[in-house]
Amino acid sequence: MKKLKLAVLPGDGIGQEVTLSAIPVFDALHIPVEIVFGEIGWEYWKQEGNVVPARTWELIKSSDATLLGAVTSKPEREAINELPIHLRASPPKYVSPVIQLRQQLDLYANVRPCFNVKGEGEEFNFTVIRENTEGLYSGFDFYPLSDSLKSVISDNPHWRNVPNDEISCSLRIQSKHGLQRLFKFGFQLAEQKKYHRVTFADKPNVLRKSSAFARELFESVAKDYPHIEADILNIDAVALWMVRRPYEFGVIVAENMFGDILSDLGAGVMGGLGFAPSANIGEKGCYFEPVHGSAPRVQPNCANPSAMFLTIALLLDQFGYHQASGQIKQAIKNVIKSGRHLTYDLGGDASTQTMANFIINLVELK
Ligand code: NAI
Ligand code: MG
Repeated sequence: MKKLKLAVLPGDGIGQEVTLSAIPVFDALHIPVEIVFGEIGWEYWKQEGNVVPARTWELIKSSDATLLGAVTSKPEREAINELPIHLRASPPKYVSPVIQLRQQLDLYANVRPCFNVKGEGEEFNFTVIRENTEGLYSGFDFYPLSDSLKSVISDNPHWRNVPNDEISCSLRIQSKHGLQRLFKFGFQLAEQKKYHRVTFADKPNVLRKSSAFARELFESVAKDYPHIEADILNIDAVALWMVRRPYEFGVIVAENMFGDILSDLGAGVMGGLGFAPSANIGEKGCYFEPVHGSAPRVQPNCANPSAMFLTIALLLDQFGYHQASGQIKQAIKNVIKSGRHLTYDLGGDASTQTMANFIINLVELK
């Protein structure tokens, strides 16, 4: 296969540790890959006032994929106070690197696989796909209301006389284009991964008009996949059943905010942030990262590297290395089962590096 060019951006805190400890797995698996390290994160905000420097953008855009560790974000006041003095008078705007990547590369599908990595109880294997670019997080979030926005709700006597500064409002924007590509992505993934079912988690009994619009589009995409079961469930019911009977789900698709919440719930069902991987995929590129952040409260070299290994497994899957991807997943299951060389969150006292080395040894032994 063609040599992959991979931009690796370790970022901040445990992002550095989990990335550097896991990267040797590419060699252990004999994957033809050119790894180029790049700079991203809070350090570059403090030095240059830019969390994703221009040279890093060049690297991302010239690579087949990006692997991100984690980045620290801080509230506005801290962000300004930590800038170099010459930038404080007119500070640059801080936009989270994760959001910059999703927007600039138009990565509309946030993919979060969840499976029984700990081997406790019934087997399950489902994937949440969160729409990343529109929905309730489109950015149309208002307080106080303008008169034109107020006029939209003034037909209702309950709202007509409430002052504009006593109401806030967020718009759930959904486009035909955005929904169609999300649904197609969901069914294509189900087909590739042999999932029997695609569930659209929405709220049709309350958000009646927008859900009816989405439903028509979902049903018309579903028609092209008659062999895959397709259903629409209320988001709250999906949350309940994900905890009670996770093995009943295959692919779950949802708009931005609903998907955000469900995908974190999925990480919880899987066993916590130490395990949860994610991919952000679009037509122009893709980037991969563990779901966890930079975890500044975790002691140095103590973080669980599994989420990063499973993220690399997702990346390998995306580029056709299915067997190598499976080997990583199996190695992690085996490490947990062995009860040896585990990090603190799994009841052990191994360092990040020790657990990572053990995982890589098992991958090599295959
Ligand atoms: P976090 O995910 O960094 O950590 C929350 C807690 O989860 C930790 O204190 C720890 O108890 C546990 N944890 C997370 N990853 C772990 C691992 N690999 N092994 C063992 N335990 C683990 O979330 P938090 O504390 O809310 O955010 C910290 C910083 O990370 C903030 O600056 C935040 O903005 C940033 N962040 C970045 C993300 C990204 O890069 N995509 C995502 C989430 C947060
Ligand atoms: Mg979240």
